[in-house]
Amino acid sequence: MSPIHPAWLPQTALAPLGRLVVRLTGDGALVETIATELRRATAAHGGRLVRGTPRGADPEPDVTFTSSTAAGDRADLGAEGFRVVRHRERLTVTAATGDGLLQGFFHVVRLGHDPHRGEDVAVVHRPAHPLRMLDHWDNVESHPVMGQVERGYAGGSLFYADGSVREDLSRVGEYARLLASVGVNRVAINNVNVHRTESRLLTDGLPDVARIAAQFRPWRIRVHLSVNFNSPVALGGLATSDPLAPAVQQWWRDAAARVYQEIPDFGGFVVKADSEGQPGPFGYGRDHADGANLLARAVAPHGGVVFWRAFVYNHTQDWRDRSTDRARAAYDHFAGLDGRFDDNVVVQVKNGPIDFQPREPVSPLFAAMPRTSLAVELQVTQEYTGQQRHAVYLGPQWGEVLQFPLTPRASVSGLVSGVVGVSNVGDDPFWTGHPLAQANLYAFGRLAWEPALDPTAVLQEWIVLTFGDDPQVGAVVHGILDESWLVYESYTAPLGVGFMVRPGGHYGPDVDGYEYTPWGTYHFADRDGIGVDRTMATGTGYTGQYPEPWRSTYESLADCPDEVLLFFHHVPYGHVLRSGKTVIQHIYDSHFAGVEAVAKMVAAWESLSGRIDQPVFERGRERFAEQLRSATEWRDQVNTYFFRKSGIPDSAGRTIF
Ligand code: GCU
Repeated sequence: MSPIHPAWLPQTALAPLGRLVVRLTGDGALVETIATELRRATAAHGGRLVRGTPRGADPEPDVTFTSSTAAGDRADLGAEGFRVVRHRERLTVTAATGDGLLQGFFHVVRLGHDPHRGEDVAVVHRPAHPLRMLDHWDNVESHPVMGQVERGYAGGSLFYADGSVREDLSRVGEYARLLASVGVNRVAINNVNVHRTESRLLTDGLPDVARIAAQFRPWRIRVHLSVNFNSPVALGGLATSDPLAPAVQQWWRDAAARVYQEIPDFGGFVVKADSEGQPGPFGYGRDHADGANLLARAVAPHGGVVFWRAFVYNHTQDWRDRSTDRARAAYDHFAGLDGRFDDNVVVQVKNGPIDFQPREPVSPLFAAMPRTSLAVELQVTQEYTGQQRHAVYLGPQWGEVLQFPLTPRASVSGLVSGVVGVSNVGDDPFWTGHPLAQANLYAFGRLAWEPALDPTAVLQEWIVLTFGDDPQVGAVVHGILDESWLVYESYTAPLGVGFMVRPGGHYGPDVDGYEYTPWGTYHFADRDGIGVDRTMATGTGYTGQYPEPWRSTYESLADCPDEVLLFFHHVPYGHVLRSGKTVIQHIYDSHFAGVEAVAKMVAAWESLSGRIDQPVFERGRERFAEQLRSATEWRDQVNTYFFRKSGIPDSAGRTIF
């Protein structure tokens, strides 16, 4: 087996700091974590670590990490913030908590070269969102259809092997370090679809969950469990799981108390209820506020949080029924419940109204629940964006979502208190299958902390930490990844229509794959036109869920942005886009251009031969070959399908089959 790739924290990433004289003050578990890092780095690179308050004989430190108990700092820096002051080539990082100091430590690692040198600065960094979480869709036992990690494209689970929690969890510790370095502070360790074996993590499995939590604790990452709403029946032998039944409430209180006894810093629960076959409060004639509050009250005495997912829709639709619109579902189920959720419930809303397509408008639900804590859920695992066989850097997509000005006063980021990502990691030696997919994990954490960061600058951080500062490598990787999300979009489903993927596995093209299934209908293409009419005037009325100005913008065929046009409108193939092209010509052009762009990526990657780690190069080469094959297949199937439907030739006369 190949050695484990160090991701963005190879020894070399710590060298600039490791060469210096570094002082560390304060105590507590996290300060010890930082001390271990600094001891290792200075030992490897010739610097020196000095602990405690300064003594006369100590050398003058280049960099100081200091814990402050001053009331002013506590107010200013908060629970996780830190201040960085550079003055006359001395750098001082101050935090009021161990968490803040740890974040400050990794900030200095990111500064790279001689972090104490440069212009004088004094800046405070604080996270935009207190809840920054990764959800693992890992199963303990391999699921007959979904495998061990549902929608996992990086091998098996880091946590489980052979039907139980791994004996050796040291790699989980390495993973925790990577996550902490980008500011992630919570992790859910099992799939939201909670199967039989996994449901028992809450009871019999607790000692093993505690072993996993012990790996995350030195990095102050709190562990969550996904739980089955029906646990009182399935595990407790009760006759009901009705959230209003006192015996059910007691069962959950007892279950939570046992968890906290074993794991005092346990984060709380994650729940997928009444969704895609999972049990939930609807089964007992109750609503989602009843369900969420049941669990929230069980963990509240222990400081726990319940992430309750808004991904609730009818997956047994009849394709003949044109009134049901999956895009409406989250809002229809949840908006009316605003104000009914307990304070420690976080309603977790997917970024778009459907399901992590390469392009969706943002979910209108973010603007509809001002009295509820919300989190935005992003898909780091590339289920619908190339499954870690295609190089797709998702930072720009997430930046756009988080900064989207959904209301006149607030962006999506300003409307949520948490950002949750579905993890893209497995036991693969490169962590993420495609080595370049590591950039997504990195960017997820960085953008959850600060959504206003420029995704290209975040990518640059990742490149330098991972590959070092060879400018040619940097230029090539930027050249491949900067626009890679748009490239992927260009050769797959056009103009926001979505879901032209093979049913089940969701990899590769199948234009009609979902069109007549119970999961929803996505393009309605006929000989005259394409798109889903979601307007209030003539369609499903989904546009009415948006606040102004978006309601009018999306309702209007003239104003609707091209990239989501077919999400909102059904138009003739000859409809002229804002870009000036017809819809059909856009389909042809974007698909031809997309494959050309991938061919350039392949060539660019080849130029890295000998300049980067051989195993990384080889793995990338294998993935790029597949991306080119797959993109070509997408191009030819999509173009051929629409040429045959419409009968309209490509104005450039290129080959369509
Ligand atoms: C998608 C995905 C499922 C997953 C679901 C969810 O539908 O294909 O595998 O369970 O999202 O988010 O719950």
